[in-house]
Amino acid sequence: MNGVHDVLAPAGPQALALFHLWNAMLVACVVVFALTMAVLAVALWRAPRAGERTRPDLDAHPRREATLRRSVVWGIAGSSVLLVVLLFASFFADRALSALPLADAVHIDLVGHQFWWEAHYEPNSPERTFATANELHVPVGRPVLIRLRADDVIHSLWVPSLGGKKDLIPGRESTLALRADRAGTYRGQCAEFCGYQHAKMALVVVAEPPADYERWSAAQRAPAREPATAQERRGLALVEQTSCAMCHAIHGTRARARRAPDLTHVASRGWLGAGAVENTPELRAEWIARAQKFKPGVNMPPLDAAPDDLAAMSAYLGSLR
Ligand code: CUA
Repeated sequence: MNGVHDVLAPAGPQALALFHLWNAMLVACVVVFALTMAVLAVALWRAPRAGERTRPDLDAHPRREATLRRSVVWGIAGSSVLLVVLLFASFFADRALSALPLADAVHIDLVGHQFWWEAHYEPNSPERTFATANELHVPVGRPVLIRLRADDVIHSLWVPSLGGKKDLIPGRESTLALRADRAGTYRGQCAEFCGYQHAKMALVVVAEPPADYERWSAAQRAPAREPATAQERRGLALVEQTSCAMCHAIHGTRARARRAPDLTHVASRGWLGAGAVENTPELRAEWIARAQKFKPGVNMPPLDAAPDDLAAMSAYLGSLR
């Protein structure tokens, strides 16, 4: 699945704060490791050779005893200072994460399911709200406030290039604020083991210039495009009559269920099944017939349909831009 997935390539202030913390910890660990190895090397170098007394009596060597005491004191003092410094670094990084001004934030409700992401944009604004799944678009330079909920088990949202992890816990609400300062496609991943297909619970975040974002969100708010060809019309009829409509919603059609990803604009997404399969006509048809082949354990049941019917459904869904 494409998209930047890299803690070391921060694209916003939250990820940058964590990147600095990561660097500070790396430097501290490298210095401590190097010092420890140096002390170990000296100790080995000065260890008694064969034939020497193996346990020098410290009382008989007051200088050695004093050196030993001093090393222990310096060791404890050094570790304590370092831990306090790292504690402060971690505290300030945490403060930086929540310092984002949210006045003009884009609001997104994100619900974690086994094994996909349900998104509702601007849930408090009836004329601006719309639903989508597994692929978020955000405007560059504007904060995004994501309210997180879990539908079944604990999931965790993690888009490394944009920010840290935040758990989605059933029965609890949490929020995560992010801002993307660079346009790009960033890959996110469920970061808490949530079942068989935890690994295939990816999330794509497309950060784009504000004008592009407005265009995208206006298109997402619109109802589904009317089928234009005979094949697409047949595809829509099949989607409405088969098991698809029992779980999925396509606005403007008779499919109105809410158990599975909203398909109103499914063709605008690059992937199906939360990053499981590329959204191409052939793979889409195969996914409809046998999602279990790509993502065993997913809730999508197999569909026993003729190749023509699958092609028609795939063509219709492929027209839903
Ligand atoms: Cu959802 Cu792991």
